[in-house]
Amino acid sequence: MSAEIDIFKLTEQQARDELARLAESLSEANTAYHGADAPDLSDAEYDRLKRRNAAIEAAFPNLKRSDSPSDQVGAAPSEGFGKVTHAVAMLSLGNAFEDSDVQDFDDRIRKYLGLETGALAYTAEPKIDGLSLSLRYENGHLVQAATRGDGAVGENVTENARTIADVPQHVTGAPDVLEVRGEVYMSHADFDALNARIEAENAVRAAEGKRLNTRFANPRNAAAGSLRQLDAAITRLRPLRFFAYAWGELSAPLAETQMEAIQRLKKFGFVTNDLTALCDGPEAMIAHYRMIEQRRATLGYDIDGVVYKVDRLDLQSRLGFRATTPRWAVAHKFPAELAWTRLEAIDIQVGRTGALSPVARLTPVTVGGVVVSNATLHNEDYIEGRDSKGAEIRGGKDIRIGDWVQVYRAGDVIPKVADVDLSKRPDDSEPFAFPTLCPECDSVAVREEGDAVRRCTGGLICPAQAVEKLRHFVGRKTFDIEGLGAKQIEMFYDDETLPIREPSDIFTLEARDSETLTRLKNRHGWGEQSAANLFAAIDDKRRIPFARLLFSLGIRHVGEVAAKDLALHYSEWDALVAALDLARPAALANRAADEAEAKERVAANAEGRRARIKDSRDRAELSLDVAAESRAAWDDLIGIDGIGSTVGQSLSDAMANPVERAAIDRLVSHLTVIPPDAPASESPVAGKTVVFTGTLEQMTRAEAKARAESLGAKVSGSVSGKTDILVAGPGAGSKAKKAADLGVETIDEQAWLDLIEGL
Ligand code: IVH
Repeated sequence: MSAEIDIFKLTEQQARDELARLAESLSEANTAYHGADAPDLSDAEYDRLKRRNAAIEAAFPNLKRSDSPSDQVGAAPSEGFGKVTHAVAMLSLGNAFEDSDVQDFDDRIRKYLGLETGALAYTAEPKIDGLSLSLRYENGHLVQAATRGDGAVGENVTENARTIADVPQHVTGAPDVLEVRGEVYMSHADFDALNARIEAENAVRAAEGKRLNTRFANPRNAAAGSLRQLDAAITRLRPLRFFAYAWGELSAPLAETQMEAIQRLKKFGFVTNDLTALCDGPEAMIAHYRMIEQRRATLGYDIDGVVYKVDRLDLQSRLGFRATTPRWAVAHKFPAELAWTRLEAIDIQVGRTGALSPVARLTPVTVGGVVVSNATLHNEDYIEGRDSKGAEIRGGKDIRIGDWVQVYRAGDVIPKVADVDLSKRPDDSEPFAFPTLCPECDSVAVREEGDAVRRCTGGLICPAQAVEKLRHFVGRKTFDIEGLGAKQIEMFYDDETLPIREPSDIFTLEARDSETLTRLKNRHGWGEQSAANLFAAIDDKRRIPFARLLFSLGIRHVGEVAAKDLALHYSEWDALVAALDLARPAALANRAADEAEAKERVAANAEGRRARIKDSRDRAELSLDVAAESRAAWDDLIGIDGIGSTVGQSLSDAMANPVERAAIDRLVSHLTVIPPDAPASESPVAGKTVVFTGTLEQMTRAEAKARAESLGAKVSGSVSGKTDILVAGPGAGSKAKKAADLGVETIDEQAWLDLIEGL
């Protein structure tokens, strides 16, 4: 650190710069301390930096950073806990904000179940603002407790959970295997007492010249920090509580309804929430929500909404799950909290797909117990006061640097700017000029027809895009390489001797390291052990599931679900690549047709006539002579259920872009791609490609698809030579004819149900 200036002589700019440097040094020291084996700061020096940081913050309270080291919860590093793979994934909940969203939730469920009328009951209960915990009992004994983690794998916190009074050590009369799920939280009274105790201890520690402990910002952080203590003795001193509201693996069902299941959990000795009610529909649910909202301040613990669940458990299992949330439950959030503050600057961040995202830098302000200093501004239309359809938002008021703005945050969503106070707008303010060049690489940033976002055209030459792509690549849902997180990626990206500029560089890291004179293990923040651990963690990921690999590439529109659908359809990586290569001419023809159609629409509009869309599409497609095999490959691709031409185009573009393609091929050359799990072999439809057409009478299309997929079938939207079974209901038209022409087996809905019956 450069020579230190007396705090009282610091200018505001100097203070700001120094706080930024301190945040970085202290965070690096934390990483080294927890992750690697060689901390690079002595304890004394660490303490001194932390004290100086606190002192500068005290002198310049408005400069305190959102990532201030003073606020870092003293939680144990996650590396310290063993991993637990959840037998049943721990999911999150979709959100509802308005009353109309609750009505929509009911409508969606009825539509999915094909239950337009008739009774449909829901439970409604407080959404506790804590962290979820899964408790596993075997033969009545608590054997394991795990946090949610990424939903699939959590941390083993068994010893800590045993210290929670609300968590029974034994249960009687329960199924042999019982996983109870619920929320760990801290009451307001316990939270206040804990912070008071930390302050009192700090007074003593300060006198002894020891490192000070940080007060917790809110009860949720306090609960998380306490549960994730490596030393269970510390957790024991922190009064945590637990509400049970759900379950995971069970050796026998608990009941037939949610309400009865909760009552059984209560009988076993779990604490369940008394504000759980049974409601006969949206009106009653909303009434219960209002009642809970009114009592919110007097509950003595934090809640952030109300959770609704379909009461009948047979219907819950028919409804099943989307990628990360159940269809049968939703969280109705309380309204966002609001505060006014000054917009100091607008920064432009460049994302993985080149999107230029404006970020508001705010004078820090407390919104609902959390200090907010950044908010998203979405895109240039939003700044100008228009939504994506061109309609006015905020009464058409634009947002300018220097404005007095109202920010709001709801739950964990990124804070947003809700309003601007024009009466406080500085006289000399100017409309914000959105950049047309990428602020990171100076490439032109363009906004395509119909896209709300302006994007940098630099591709991988743009360092921001390259780093963001790499960060995505090493994320938890992608390659998830232990010891190679977002921070390390940034460090390696800028490294001169051992750079990681594209994903394949990760897999050549060890070989390159052994060639360099300055080995990684001799580097700042690294040691022999941590370098060896990193190389081992990388080796661990040389075998990678197809869907994960595809999602990791960060191709626009190719999300987790699309990647899974594509992997299931093609099974082999090479098959996907070959299909994309073959489909390329048809993809180009499709784009030409899209463009011709758009042009025709504009021209027809100007001339006041009806657009002859079909003609213009056909002409454009015909002008490019596309081979039948190419067309078939393209149709097969976009016929995959859930994959349309948007995903198809984007994939095709990525694979046909020589720079991107070469990078992908280089990466894949270091990997063994694991095909998706062979579908359950006992199912007669496993691995078969099924198409549904016509009207289904006993289930909806969505349910039929979800059910077929859960039995290992691939569901496609169009009939081709690859189709194994066509399930045709009344009114089936061209698909049934095509199937007959191709000799595809065609059955009716009842025959399909008989086929999968009992599975
Ligand atoms: S049910 C499969 N009920 O909210 C659905 N979750 O935003 C399981 N939460 O991860 C969740 N109170 O940690 C449920 N009464 C409640 C809840 C609740 C709090 C948490 C839970 C979940 C998160 C989703």
